[in-house]
Amino acid sequence: MTSLRYQRLYVNIDHVATVRQARRSREPDPVAAALLCERAGADGITAHLREDRRHVQDEDIHRLAAAVSTVLNLECALTDEMLALAETLRPPQVTLVPERREEVTTEGGLDVVGHEGAVRSAVARLKRGGVRTSLFIDPDPAAVRVALAVGADAIELHTGRYAHAPSDPATLRALRDAAQLGASLGLAVHAGHGLSVDNVRPVAAIPEIEELNIGHAIIGRAIFVGLDAAVREVRSAMDEARAAHRY
Ligand code: PXP
Repeated sequence: MTSLRYQRLYVNIDHVATVRQARRSREPDPVAAALLCERAGADGITAHLREDRRHVQDEDIHRLAAAVSTVLNLECALTDEMLALAETLRPPQVTLVPERREEVTTEGGLDVVGHEGAVRSAVARLKRGGVRTSLFIDPDPAAVRVALAVGADAIELHTGRYAHAPSDPATLRALRDAAQLGASLGLAVHAGHGLSVDNVRPVAAIPEIEELNIGHAIIGRAIFVGLDAAVREVRSAMDEARAAHRY
């Protein structure tokens, strides 16, 4: 009976930029927020440079790459523009995500089964640059197997369905099964989307999941309690959940 390994918390700071872009001004600065998150215990900082630049801007990514002392996880779509940026910047980690212009947020996982060839060449480009590459996928066994086949280092399981229906046992079971399959194939397993201090515990307790990416709920909560407390609350919930589960 051993306790679970430490699970990393990466904080997504996109929505600090969302507030700034509401006025196209300089404040609040997502880079300053990233440094506060690191001081509060974040193990990494995630930022999504969307093609439409609705929140994070190119300059933010360059500044984050210079300022982040933990790990910068750049989320981007599988486009030539984004891959070229990643090749130039060489962040320690890139997570490839799907993007549709009309969506409010990343609504589903990357269709790796339908676009296997394109994903394989994107992963190869990134790996040539020494970038650890993760694929944001639905908790679907076929997608997990393709992620392995195309050479990804990691998968990030989309937790959106679970977040919308946390009391439906099928949503958590799908995450558990996909996490187990991924780890058994030798993939690193991450998860994220729609997680908060209220729903994170069952996901944090899945032993194979080594990293969570959480954004909107932490930045939203920070309005009321401050960013430092908002990060620490989630960190504590994750630690409690993992301490409660011994295998
Ligand atoms: N992981 C990925 C790949 C995402 O695209 C997002 C949203 O940008 C998140 C995690 C974080 O989701 P949320 O903001 O709902 O916590």
